Amino acid sequence: MEILGIDIGGSGIKGAPVEISTGTLLTERHRIATPEGAKPADVAQVLKKMVKYFAWQGPIGCCFPAAIQQGVARTAANVDKSWIGTNAEKLFAEATGCPVRVINDADAAGLAEMRFGAGKGIRGVVLIVTVGTGLGTALFTDGILVPNTELGHIEMNGRDAELQASDAARKREDLSWETWARRFDQYLRTMKALLWPDLIILGGGVSKKLDKFIHYLTVDVPLVPAATLNNAGIIGAALAAESL
Ligand code: BGC
Repeated sequence: MEILGIDIGGSGIKGAPVEISTGTLLTERHRIATPEGAKPADVAQVLKKMVKYFAWQGPIGCCFPAAIQQGVARTAANVDKSWIGTNAEKLFAEATGCPVRVINDADAAGLAEMRFGAGKGIRGVVLIVTVGTGLGTALFTDGILVPNTELGHIEMNGRDAELQASDAARKREDLSWETWARRFDQYLRTMKALLWPDLIILGGGVSKKLDKFIHYLTVDVPLVPAATLNNAGIIGAALAAESL
């Protein structure tokens, strides 16, 4: 079954048709810059262009960096606050004329990893942590997703963990890999103490640079990089639309 997967991010909106039985992209992915401010109506127009580009008629799965409940965005940590309360599924379906499912971006990356990547066939508790502009989490138990965990926003040292341990924090504060890794390690150790995961999968930009910081991590949980990397969001979003 072919589904158009679209990953809506802070700087780019990327899409490609996905064969969901294999998790393969059927064409090169297409990227359109995220409109300034990333307001709902403007993002919907980009989705319309994406559908036109692929001459797409059929189901669409999108992922977005917010908690999404029955298609409605409930949070907006790094996106325009007007998303809160917006029914993204309805908005995108009206703009594209196609049935649309919208889920959280870390959950999408997690679905792709559990089906085709580093979590394939793994039972028990698996935590996916995506490290980029935000700190995203996806939690699975025996392969089943508990959606919208938003564990990047736990309190650490009296502040939102994401503000201290995301890749954006590393860049913003010009941290050495060691300084950043010690913060991230504290975050992962907290996750271990609260969730007791059997495996942690690291996604997002930093998972490609593991050699720069893995030696600073002391957390006592098997930790592996995501295997689907750049396309995890697209693939996982498409998987989420399987039931449309
Ligand atoms: C958001 C999450 C998102 C994560 C990664 C966080 O700021 O609250 O919904 O999954 O960033 O993009």
